[in-house]
Amino acid sequence: MKPAFVFGTRPEIIKLAPVIRAFLERGVEPLLIHTGQHYDYEMSAVFLEELELPPIDYHLEVGSGTQAEQTGLAMIKIEKVLMDERPDVTLVQGDTNTVLAGALASVKLKIPVAHVEAGLRSFDRTMPEEINRILADHASEILFPPTEEARKNLEREGITENVYVTGNTVVDAVLQNAKVAEKKSDVLERFGLRPKGYILITAHRAENTDSRENLERLVEILENLPMKAIYPIHPRTRKRLQEFGLWERVSSIENLIVTKPLGYLDFLKLEKNAFAIMTDSGGIQEEAITLNVPCLTLRYNTERPETVEAGGNVLVGLEKERAMEYLKRLIEDEEFYRKMANAPNPFGDGKAGKRIAEILLDLHERGELRIKG
Ligand code: UD1
Ligand code: UDP
Repeated sequence: MKPAFVFGTRPEIIKLAPVIRAFLERGVEPLLIHTGQHYDYEMSAVFLEELELPPIDYHLEVGSGTQAEQTGLAMIKIEKVLMDERPDVTLVQGDTNTVLAGALASVKLKIPVAHVEAGLRSFDRTMPEEINRILADHASEILFPPTEEARKNLEREGITENVYVTGNTVVDAVLQNAKVAEKKSDVLERFGLRPKGYILITAHRAENTDSRENLERLVEILENLPMKAIYPIHPRTRKRLQEFGLWERVSSIENLIVTKPLGYLDFLKLEKNAFAIMTDSGGIQEEAITLNVPCLTLRYNTERPETVEAGGNVLVGLEKERAMEYLKRLIEDEEFYRKMANAPNPFGDGKAGKRIAEILLDLHERGELRIKG
């Protein structure tokens, strides 16, 4: 069997690594296609190295652009590779422009698409990711929702065949790498941080960074944190902070360490040892609950409602008062802290990657890995 993986951004590499590994363990060499949506060393190559992935077969060097430029160029380049290689299935993960491009290029060549992390919905159609998720799910033959809730979203849209609830591969990645990170990373020493003595922050979502007004609200939250904090800044946010003249303000906040994006092992160690995490990232909401760290999400909605229902995540948006109120409670109320930290993990047992590979191998063996006419 010949599976092709199409990916292009930091979270896709991290979350597909366990699936790639599962195929390799079954003696199947997957074809690896990197669109180059992310291209800085610390947004891409560092993960390929740390996760010890096999060499990439095709680097498409799509790079940055408008939504249509990036998606369109990726489609054109992916199509060429898929036409030459004719894999049995194309795997995509998540909701980026790379995912939409990979799914559309593949299904139109009659190569079935398997969507890892299918069925997530924020019900906010102003997010590019929401459009990507919906369209990728509808272009896919085989769907791997991480949770029952995600499966129900698919069912509501009439997608009921070849749907397999697997758990989220983010748990596999965390379990496979947390011990290595603990041993190998010296990130706490490097930044002078002590366990549970700091807040970890990330924010990069377009709706938070692309308008000056919203970005300034984020900066105001950063200026009012009640504890030491560290913020590895995504290149999109760095660029916007500079454009809007906010960079100096952020880099001069006394209790805040601002740094470039970190490798996965450093970042995992920072997450595990954080007092709390504030983020607008999807993957980091999932990792926080997996690692038993309270999460305050800098958004007004989430396509990971399971984390909120479980009690490990609170949506604070860009509301400074609300964010400060929850931080204060976490600091002052031990019982509340324990409750958030001990919320049950809704994302499965860390065997999602294996399950996905087994299901695809089985469908292939039975001649059912195909697009029905
Ligand atoms: C993309 C995904 C988002 C995901 C995020 C993961 C879409 C629509 N968005 O957002 O869902 O959460 O990746 O991190 O696909 N840039 C660099 N170096 C890089 C990559 C990007 O400088 O290696 C800068 C460029 O100025 C670029 C900007 O970041 O224009 C945004 O990059 P892009 O890939 O378009 O979107 P992300 O914000 O990274
Ligand atoms: N991550 C990392 N270094 C960082 C920030 C994030 O390794 O400096 C990892 C993090 O552990 C998670 C993933 O990147 O697995 C999340 O990516 P991101 O927030 O960019 O995307 P999203 O999940 O929101 O799509």
